[in-house]
Amino acid sequence: MNWESRKIILGVTGGVAAYKAVDLASRWTQRGAAVRVRMTPAACRFIQPLTFESVTRSEVISEIWHPVGTHDRPEHIGAGDDADVFVIAPASADHIARLAHGFGDDVVCLTALAWDGPTVLCPAMNDRMWQNPAVQTNIRILQERGFHIVGPGMGHLACGSTGPGRLADLDEIDEIVSGLIAARELS
Ligand SMILES: Cc1cc2nc3c(=O)[nH]c(=O)nc-3n(C[C@H](O)[C@H](O)[C@H](O)COP(=O)(O)O)c2cc1C
Repeated sequence: MNWESRKIILGVTGGVAAYKAVDLASRWTQRGAAVRVRMTPAACRFIQPLTFESVTRSEVISEIWHPVGTHDRPEHIGAGDDADVFVIAPASADHIARLAHGFGDDVVCLTALAWDGPTVLCPAMNDRMWQNPAVQTNIRILQERGFHIVGPGMGHLACGSTGPGRLADLDEIDEIVSGLIAARELS
C-alpha cells in the first residue's frame, strides 16, 4: 500500500491514554502518511501538542479559533477535503457524548461534524464509566451512524481497576486504519 499520499486526521481527547496516540502518529508518519493531529483542551492537559508536532513535523491544532489552519478554508472544514480517515484515540466518555449529540465546541468534534469519511473511534476510560448506560447508549448511536468502534480492551486501568476500558491495542487500531486506507485506495 502506498502511504505517501495518504492523510490521517488524528483527534486526541482528554484521557490518560492520550500518550499512546503519539505512537500511532509516529508509526503512520514513518510510513509516509501526513498525520494531522487535533486535540481538545483537556487532551493538552495530559500531553503537550509539542510531542505530536515533533513526531508528525506538523502543526497541532487544539482550539477552534484557528481561522485558516493548514488549509485556505476554516480548519475544521478544510481538514475533511483531502483526508482518508479520521481516527479519534483515545475517545473520552465526555467526547463520545458530544459526538453522539452533534456538538461542535472543540476542534475534534467540530471537525467530526464537517467530516463525511470513515471515522475510527477508540474509547478509553474507567470500567464503570464504560459500562454506564449513558456511554453505552452514545456508543450505539455512533455505531448506527457508521463509526468504526475499536475497543476498549480488557485489563489493568490507570485508575487501579481491572476491566474493560483500556485503549485498544495499538496494532488492532493500526490494522483497522490500514484496512480503511487500503479500501479507499481501491475505490
Ligand atoms: C486524572 C484524570 C484522568 C482522566 N482519565 C479519563 C479517561 O481515561 N477517560 C475518560 O473518558 N475521561 C477521563 N477523565 C475525564 C476527562 O478528562 C474529562 O471528562 C474531560 O472533560 C474530557 O474532555 P474532552 O472530551 O473534551 O477531551 C480523566 C480526568 C482526570 C482528571
